[in-house]
Amino acid sequence: MLKPLLNRMNNYSSSRLFRKIAGVSVVVLSASIAMAQTKGGDAKMDAFVNGLMSKMTLDEKIGQLNLVTSGRPLTGTTVNKGTEEGIKKGAIGGVFGLYGVEYVKAAQDAAVKNSRLHIPLIFGLDVIHGHRTIFPIPLGMSATWDMSLIEQSAHIAATEATGEGLNWVFSPMVDIARDPRWGRISEGSGEDPWLGSQIAMAMVHGYQGKSMKNADAVMACVKHFALYGGAEAGREYNTVDMSLIKMYQDYLPPYKAAVDAGAGSFMSSFNTINGVPATGNQWLLTDLLRKQWGFKGFVVSDYTAVNELSAHGLGDLQAVSALSLKAGLDMDMVGEGFLSTLKKSLKEGKVTQQEIDLACKRVLEAKYKLGLFDNPYKSINADVEAKSELTDANRKASRETAEHSFVLLKNKGQLLPLKKTGTIALIGPLANNHSEMLGTWVVAGEPSKSVSVIDGIKNVAGSDVKVLYAKGSNFTDDSLLNARAWFFGMKQERDNRPAQEMIDEAVETAKKADIIVAVVGESANMTGESSSRSDITIPETQKELLKALVKTGKPIVAVLFNGRPLALPWEDKNLDAILDVWMPGTEAGNAIADVLFGNYNPAGKITATFPRSVGQIPIYYAHKNTGRPFDGKGPAKFKSDYIDISNDPLYPFGYGLSYTTFNYSDVKLSKTDLKGNETLKATVTVTNSGKLAGEEVVQLYVSDPVASISRSVKELKNFKKISLQPGESKEVSFNITTADLKFFNTKLAYDWEPGEFGIQIGTNSSDVKSAKVNWTK
Ligand code: NOJ
Repeated sequence: MLKPLLNRMNNYSSSRLFRKIAGVSVVVLSASIAMAQTKGGDAKMDAFVNGLMSKMTLDEKIGQLNLVTSGRPLTGTTVNKGTEEGIKKGAIGGVFGLYGVEYVKAAQDAAVKNSRLHIPLIFGLDVIHGHRTIFPIPLGMSATWDMSLIEQSAHIAATEATGEGLNWVFSPMVDIARDPRWGRISEGSGEDPWLGSQIAMAMVHGYQGKSMKNADAVMACVKHFALYGGAEAGREYNTVDMSLIKMYQDYLPPYKAAVDAGAGSFMSSFNTINGVPATGNQWLLTDLLRKQWGFKGFVVSDYTAVNELSAHGLGDLQAVSALSLKAGLDMDMVGEGFLSTLKKSLKEGKVTQQEIDLACKRVLEAKYKLGLFDNPYKSINADVEAKSELTDANRKASRETAEHSFVLLKNKGQLLPLKKTGTIALIGPLANNHSEMLGTWVVAGEPSKSVSVIDGIKNVAGSDVKVLYAKGSNFTDDSLLNARAWFFGMKQERDNRPAQEMIDEAVETAKKADIIVAVVGESANMTGESSSRSDITIPETQKELLKALVKTGKPIVAVLFNGRPLALPWEDKNLDAILDVWMPGTEAGNAIADVLFGNYNPAGKITATFPRSVGQIPIYYAHKNTGRPFDGKGPAKFKSDYIDISNDPLYPFGYGLSYTTFNYSDVKLSKTDLKGNETLKATVTVTNSGKLAGEEVVQLYVSDPVASISRSVKELKNFKKISLQPGESKEVSFNITTADLKFFNTKLAYDWEPGEFGIQIGTNSSDVKSAKVNWTK
């Protein structure tokens, strides 16, 4: 581990210092090349990188392909040793897991002052939903359907991360997921490729800004390429096997959108694709990503993913390292397979010099694009570090984003919003807690700086509200879940009283109140990486608590924490109101209280279907019709259904209520017969028919009932988020072009076929107004 520097200098971003250091070696690349860097342009970058590479030894080139951790295990069990020596030897191209000006400066010093060619390091980190100021988990963020809030969250994360010396973030995760058993569904944007693509673009723009050379910009790393969310049985790291049409139509679009948005890097996934693991998959990393899509950045493996190719059955470390390099992988995360075997493989003719050079070039180009050769210390600035973090403005943005991410799943008798008078019984393992507010994937966020639900309610409710509190239960009393969810010696904040004693106390507390607010659901550790669940209900212990609370007869609101769609049929039937808050981030309590008390009227809509039971999984709105569809009416025998449950989800994709209500008119079309590249305008009038101002996400779906392949019953193609005062109406129009009709056919050609199309506009994927058009070529 690097020694922290004794002196915290105010500003390390001295390019003068670097030029002097660089003078030893980089000056030989000539002044004109140094000038060229600042002007940009591919030819200039090429000349610079080629010039630098002409000075590099084979070991130094291989060193650039080696990404190490700072010494702290985060998402694997292996850590690298001898980082400082490695940097000085030129055997390390980047470090991840290290943040804070002091530490990053020390590591960068070792590279630019003490390595032979003074090549700067790239510094990466898992900045997933915020750096210091934590935003809602990505699945929650996607429920905002608000691209500017999402982009802003990435930009704020970039300003805070660069403030601590970072220049590379392992985000966005754009994996489409249709199986909520998979714990990492929390880190993505849900089930829909079109919405996922919009979010992927917004995130890349937010991180990278107008130019990655800017001091407050970081390079995005799009992950996990590819199809990681398609794991069989929702089991983490499991095999993925899907048809090419499904892959192209439903799973690949967000990655492609991220390439089009200019993402600088990609991370390969752990899973297999068509039998070949992604990290060693030439079709994926070269033919598709680079040749078909034109990606120009570099690809890093996931954590020890190269080494893991051996367990996949592809050979020993030397063989799988050579395979990955040849497939198009440029940087090896943690496993040091490239570092320890590529030289030997070159000698034995198992890889070529050109393959090593190409990977090295791509890594150096990334550093060039980040402006690190101009100034390796560009984001290593103690002043910025001190000023950029957890500012009031950042907290405000996090609070606003969280409020917009909440989804009102049920609100019987308009129980919500709560009145700012009376007595509330605040119950549940998440009611008075800081450590769980931030969510699943937080490296630098500090739980102690988060706002608990009880504090938020006290901040927002005012003095006429009395809050009584009882914990009521632990997260779970299931010993296996307890042992596996809290890993690496993590301690759960547990109350050691018997479960019944806690429930009794909660019931007594509830009896003294006018209303119960039960803050229940998943702990952050039950979601995210390596946290697949076979049972996606609220853990039994908490369910027992809820049952006892319901028996008091008091009105009950559940504030639900979850990193995945949960199966909630009992809760939907028995609770009066359910507000899904995901895992809201630093401002959790304030945001929850704002929404509970109606300072903000919720408008979030779920981006992944909530099943009634785990047995319905995978369940998603854009399913196929099948040859024997069952529409819920008439005899069900010999139809595509179950004999013990309906086909319908509990809450469909795009669903979310408001404290007000919205009426939709029928769909008006500009024409019903179209030809060629005409544009169709589809309009609905949306009216706020309730008593409060509110926002509504108006969703457009298109269906293609007759085609050369069996198409999904509908696909999201656009949406508009509008706000309406009580009684107000607005016309909402969508322009639809043939681009919205295209799909991948059996030859994987992306085109549309003439015929009938359904145009559906509505408040969620199930509740739509429909019209039809005929569109000829
Ligand atoms: C493994 C995870 O799959 C990936 O998302 C993460 O970026 C790396 N570990 C690095 O921590």
